[in-house]
Amino acid sequence: MIVFKNLPEVDPYQQFQKDYLDAEKANQPLIHAIAISSFNKALNEVESRFVNLKYIEGEEWIFFSNYNSPKAKSFQSHDQISAMFYWSTTNVQIRIKANVKETNKERSDEHFQSRQREKNALAIASNQSQRISSFETVKSKFTETLENANLGKRPDYWGGFSFTPYYFEFWRGSDFRLNHRKAFSKVEDGWESSILEP
Ligand SMILES: Cc1cc2nc3c(=O)[nH]c(=O)nc-3n(C[C@H](O)[C@H](O)[C@H](O)COP(=O)(O)O)c2cc1C
Repeated sequence: MIVFKNLPEVDPYQQFQKDYLDAEKANQPLIHAIAISSFNKALNEVESRFVNLKYIEGEEWIFFSNYNSPKAKSFQSHDQISAMFYWSTTNVQIRIKANVKETNKERSDEHFQSRQREKNALAIASNQSQRISSFETVKSKFTETLENANLGKRPDYWGGFSFTPYYFEFWRGSDFRLNHRKAFSKVEDGWESSILEP
């Protein structure tokens, strides 16, 4: 589930919420799963992964992760990302281009405190994406943390990322590939829309 707060009264945001509600009504599994592609300038490499989008607050789209992870390093080296949903129940793809930054600490604390103890134990215990000798070691670090750590205290290496879109493309699949594509680009005084060929 994505929580919407103070959604801008402009087309791409309203269109997004409408498509989201349609997919929710159609029982779309993992409706909040969003693919995030980033570029690491130092490695000269592009990488994608899914995350759970938790909130859209005003123009900020928020998810949570580890601040030492490969994705965090990419965001530090190059703050522009590409993000994407695909909702199979309604055959809708939404592509986004955006700039990403860390949320403020209060936002991260608030979300950390709302989470299950077990998830917090894992967030504290894991050096996300680092190599480790075995899955047994992952489990013992988790159990040790669950039993002994202060699970209400967010570690400073875990928190929110917020991205602000400057481009959207809404793609609606149809028979004979007669797909409907509508793009929105941010301009100085609002959003400019255009229809794209399939
Ligand atoms: C559906 C789905 C949702 C996920 N949500 C998150 C998330 O919210 N935060 C996160 O750090 N990783 C999440 N992951 C794991 C990431 O895809 C990824 O494996 C991890 O963040 C490490 O990525 P990195 O090495 O690029 O930093 C999710 C994976 C899937 C399949």
